[in-house]
Amino acid sequence: MSRLTAIREALDQSPNNASLLQLYGHACLEELQFDEARDAFDRVLAIDPGQCDAHLGIARVLLMQGDSSGAAVRAERVLQSDPSNAPAHLLISRVFLSEGDRVRALEHFEKAVRSDAAVSDVSLEQELGRSAGEVRKNIAAPNPPEPAFSDPFTSSEFPPDPFEDPFVDDPAEDWRPETFFAPGDPERNRVNFEAVGGMEELKEEIRLKIVYPLQHPELYKAYGRKAGGGILIFGPPGCGKTLMLRAVAGEVGCNYFAIGLHEIFDPYFGSSERNLHQVFETARANSPCVLVFDELDSLAVDRRHLRESQMRNLVNQFLFELDGLRSDNSRILVIGATNAPWQLDPAFRRPGRFDQTIFVPPPDFPARAQIIELLAKDKPISQLNVDDLAKATKGFTGADLKWVFDRGAELALSEAVHTGRPVPISMELLLQVANQHRPSSGEWFEGLRPHVQEATQDSLYTDVRKFLSAPTSL
Ligand SMILES: Nc1ncnc2c1ncn2[C@@H]1O[C@H](COP(=O)(O)OP(=O)(O)O)[C@@H](O)[C@H]1O
Ligand SMILES: [Mg+2]
Repeated sequence: MSRLTAIREALDQSPNNASLLQLYGHACLEELQFDEARDAFDRVLAIDPGQCDAHLGIARVLLMQGDSSGAAVRAERVLQSDPSNAPAHLLISRVFLSEGDRVRALEHFEKAVRSDAAVSDVSLEQELGRSAGEVRKNIAAPNPPEPAFSDPFTSSEFPPDPFEDPFVDDPAEDWRPETFFAPGDPERNRVNFEAVGGMEELKEEIRLKIVYPLQHPELYKAYGRKAGGGILIFGPPGCGKTLMLRAVAGEVGCNYFAIGLHEIFDPYFGSSERNLHQVFETARANSPCVLVFDELDSLAVDRRHLRESQMRNLVNQFLFELDGLRSDNSRILVIGATNAPWQLDPAFRRPGRFDQTIFVPPPDFPARAQIIELLAKDKPISQLNVDDLAKATKGFTGADLKWVFDRGAELALSEAVHTGRPVPISMELLLQVANQHRPSSGEWFEGLRPHVQEATQDSLYTDVRKFLSAPTSL
């Protein structure tokens, strides 16, 4: 029995299982059965209209059928909701290549590698004449050497541009970040706080700063409080920070901007600062709003570690913009997330900037149970015992838990393909996979330890210390 037939039979049992349909679409694509593939992806979208993977599936079908502009439109749509979606960038790269535009094809290929360092597409790399490895190396050494004349405003290599003084008047309305949601935007409601297990303190903090003030303006006025502020969230990778930032879009009723770092960084002197300024100008023009910076450490670097004046200027600009929020009653909530809080310049945590810092540890038992429930939804699992699985996964991050389900599904699928009989994912299999997995956050805590020891007075690590001294709380 072919893989296709096996999945088709599994679908007969569970016709509205979006993941199976997705898998079926890809299998059809591999067999060049375009109409069936298209049908499968359309059915996924009927169940979950925001499924990026299904949009990309359709884009692939279109591209293989020669409709490159149709493919580009689909992939662009994916990038609007997820600007760092590496497969979407790869697909657009292919579209440009098919249209003979090698420069833009390369541009998107580089964006794909920036978004996902593990990306590889051998045939595309061959056609472009550039390997993912080379691109990664360039990213590791991003800044070109300073010009011989170090003052950019007198250097003939970097003449000042009379038409582009960014700080005089910015056409803020002309620009939107790639991820922008206005109130009532149907796309934004796909993910909200319900999709995030645990993090109750953080959820309430966000509501206090932007949801309740808009619901109860009189009350806030009476207490002399306004909407907005700054929250920094940090913790080991895989604990749901990025998911949380996305969920904020679905939770709050105001404008939402997620700023991709690629929208800020620019190799030309002064342009990155201008871009950052424009982000804040746009936010101010659209307040009340939430402004989100994921992977904040790459933008808010500790100036003591910086030799390059270019990056220093950017950090100073960022601090300046954050101060502006405090002074002009701007009703903007800025949320930053990082796995590497020790890399941030301490000035970012001064009052009026990111003054609220929240540690997101690996989920405790109740949070794991919630995440397990979320991950198990719509999956063919037999006799799931949430408590037993939560007990067996102490120390696991949300991403570790996701891996358990993904791996479980793969193993069940492999069995289905080989026996020709769809089998559900059994509880026994999930426990077996969990027992073989080592929690991924250990390394992060090891790396953090010296910073915690060094910064004895730093309140940033208060909750980390509590967590480390009582690991049984998991
Ligand atoms: N608290 C959580 N609730 C639900 N899913 C989670 C949670 N934490 C992690 N996950 C799962 O793990 C994936 C990776 O988490 P992510 O948000 O990228 O972590 P981080 O940004 O902290 O590194 C998420 O997309 C989600 O599937
Ligand atoms: Mg993240």
